[in-house]
Amino acid sequence: MALSRAHELPWWRSAAIYQIYPRSFADADGDGVGDLAGVLARLPYLAELGIDAIWFNPWYASPQADAGYDVADYRRIDPLFGTLEEAEELIRRAHESGIRVVIDVVPNHTSDQHPWFQAALAAASGSPERERFWFRPGRGEAGELPPTDWQGFFGGPAWSRVTEPDGSPGEWYLHLFAPEQPDFQWEHPEVRAEFEAVLRFWFDRGADGFRIDSAALLVKDPALPVDDPEERARTDREEVHEVYRAWRRLADSYSGGRVLIGEVWLPDPARLARYLRPGELHTVFNFPYLECPWEAEPLRTVIDDTLRLHTAAGAPATWVLSNHDVDRVVTRYGRADTSFAIYARHHGRPVDLALGTRRARAAALLTQALPGSVYLYQGEELGLWEVETIPDALRQDPMWERGGRNPANPGRDGCRVPLPWSGDAPPFGFSPDQATAVPWLPQPDAWKEHTVAAQAADPGSMLSLYRAALRLRRELPAEAGLEWVEDVPTGVLAFRRGEAFACVVNLSAEPVVVGVEGAPLLASGPVGVDRSLPPDTAVWLRIET
Ligand code: NOJ
Repeated sequence: MALSRAHELPWWRSAAIYQIYPRSFADADGDGVGDLAGVLARLPYLAELGIDAIWFNPWYASPQADAGYDVADYRRIDPLFGTLEEAEELIRRAHESGIRVVIDVVPNHTSDQHPWFQAALAAASGSPERERFWFRPGRGEAGELPPTDWQGFFGGPAWSRVTEPDGSPGEWYLHLFAPEQPDFQWEHPEVRAEFEAVLRFWFDRGADGFRIDSAALLVKDPALPVDDPEERARTDREEVHEVYRAWRRLADSYSGGRVLIGEVWLPDPARLARYLRPGELHTVFNFPYLECPWEAEPLRTVIDDTLRLHTAAGAPATWVLSNHDVDRVVTRYGRADTSFAIYARHHGRPVDLALGTRRARAAALLTQALPGSVYLYQGEELGLWEVETIPDALRQDPMWERGGRNPANPGRDGCRVPLPWSGDAPPFGFSPDQATAVPWLPQPDAWKEHTVAAQAADPGSMLSLYRAALRLRRELPAEAGLEWVEDVPTGVLAFRRGEAFACVVNLSAEPVVVGVEGAPLLASGPVGVDRSLPPDTAVWLRIET
């Protein structure tokens, strides 16, 4: 093969990581909710897809107030999903299939059902039990006002008032997300020690790494600034880096290349880079790329900024189009405004699904051709769209209620609908034939054409494109950076990776002639015999050397 790949690089520097949202992947026990046995049964699907690792959204014991991001026990699996033994077997069997396993860790907050929080509620104001959280007296004559005017990320106040053990209205506690998710006090040595123990617990069971939820938020300004115009200034503090330096030492003390991936949703690239300093996190998610509109110039700028930033930090870039918090790519790219902002969704606006699908195909090839690691969210490989027709009564995301039931920004349920595997009608093989419940969110009837079974046999399907791309991607020179080809029409992105590979993407409204030499390896749409590339189409080329 002319395209060769350096094998000695740590796996996470170039991995394709598939995100599994356990409740929506595959339901083996028929209760309408996905589970670990469902994932185990589908490991061959993942191996055939050609991914290097799985990242699991939280599978821990949880009251599920925020779909598992409210963890009541960091060392147990929620019975909804299975048992600890099943998790261990899943890690083992994934490894046997050549697939690494990254799990979510949620350190910023816990569940209000966590024993530490229950103990804090039962203890008095000023007690050691309350010091692991952010308990404060209220303002106003009788403490009836929250300590600050901070708003939570899901909407509504970031403080809730407790009833003291004697029945009187009492102190307030901080929760940057839902009230069921009290924030930990990360200056407390027991909190730090507990999470290091949790990391060890899972590393000892074979976990290859952690995706760190809300990674910039952990340490807050103890002064609780009341009218802080820059919302996140009260977090993203230097002290959080002490935590990650300790975690990095821990991760590096294990063999096999364990990875720490930060969910750092900060718009400022310089601040982002601070999490990638030597001895801190290995990688962070690339949200600027995810949020970027489908337009050549902004994309090129994000790609250049990303590579500059990561190269300077010695970290690999990551490329992310989608996850369980954002509108599906096909829908985003099928709207007039193709940018994305988590708190300003555009549900209800017209969507051209055919256009969105064409662009999502081209974006898949662009993304997978870039140097670094890539994430793909389950269902992206099937070209699933955002389900905007979920009846309000079935919505489960706390963003819906706390955000004031806003139809234009109804939350994240629409990207979390259970996957279609086979058959002509819901549950499309997501649940077994003898299921006792319907899928926890309704699947659109039109997904009958988007099942794995329907797509596997169709060489023109999104699934076939992903399979081919992920396979070829393994042969790309992982160590090679990106070199732009400058002499291309406006609206075209073209670049080389090493001597033998090039990628050309036409984001303009007109067909263009591929000006780069080389034989097409894979294309997201039809390439003309005259080498013309239609709008919203990408092609990979092999350059003979
Ligand atoms: C980010 C996670 O991706 C999201 O799903 C969750 O609601 C918040 N963090 C709070 O844990």
